Amino acid sequence: MDETWNSSDKFNREAAQWDENKGRRALAHAVAEAIIAAAKPHNGMLALEFGCGTGLITMEIAPHAGTVLAVDTSSAMLAVLDEKIRTSGVTSIVTTSIDISSQQFTDSHELSFDLIYSSMTLHHISDTAAFLNQLSTLLAPGGMIAIADLDREDGLFHDDPLEKLYHGFERSELAAMIEAAGLQKTTFETAYIFDKQNREGKITAYPVFLVTAQKPVS
Ligand SMILES: C[S@@+](CC[C@H](N)C(=O)[O-])C[C@H]1O[C@@H](n2cnc3c(N)ncnc32)[C@H](O)[C@@H]1O
Repeated sequence: MDETWNSSDKFNREAAQWDENKGRRALAHAVAEAIIAAAKPHNGMLALEFGCGTGLITMEIAPHAGTVLAVDTSSAMLAVLDEKIRTSGVTSIVTTSIDISSQQFTDSHELSFDLIYSSMTLHHISDTAAFLNQLSTLLAPGGMIAIADLDREDGLFHDDPLEKLYHGFERSELAAMIEAAGLQKTTFETAYIFDKQNREGKITAYPVFLVTAQKPVS
């Protein structure tokens, strides 16, 4: 990943207060419910969340899945999740601090995942098409991606105008990249509408999609 896109400093600074944001918690809850409804996780599944942050989504998915590998570049975000795991007694979540888009991750994980899910992280990864190809190789035959992110936005969602990220995605462009990565049955739904005070101080409705797609069985 291009170094300038690696925003772990910012997320390390924000980690301790991350869960205090009510809107963020509501978004994560809606996305987790949408993932559960769409992917129907079960205890035979090996799942991966990339950009898990403090585990707002994974703490809801884990009771429905088998083992969950929760990956993030921010060690401070993962420390919050590790504390939740410790106090809740959940034993099925394994956390790892690594750049999910790195070759190092692919090389060190020869596992095939039945489900790869994420929320609000895809826009932080520089080469979307290459990354979707990578996810496709990490999926088991018949495995599914379930990725939530912003629809193309006005560029004012994030507070820092200099932060390297995508201003959401056009669904048709993302669908084309997903299918070029060899996945099928691409389906979009609107998982949540995030009413957020944007960088210019205006309360604005930002729709968040959930896209699912499957790797062919053979
Ligand atoms: C906007 S936050 C979302 C966190 C969490 N999914 C949530 O909904 O609360 C994006 C997260 O992705 C992580 N992240 C960004 N780029 C990453 C990468 N290349 N590999 C792994 N994690 C990454 C950040 O550290 C951050 O925790």
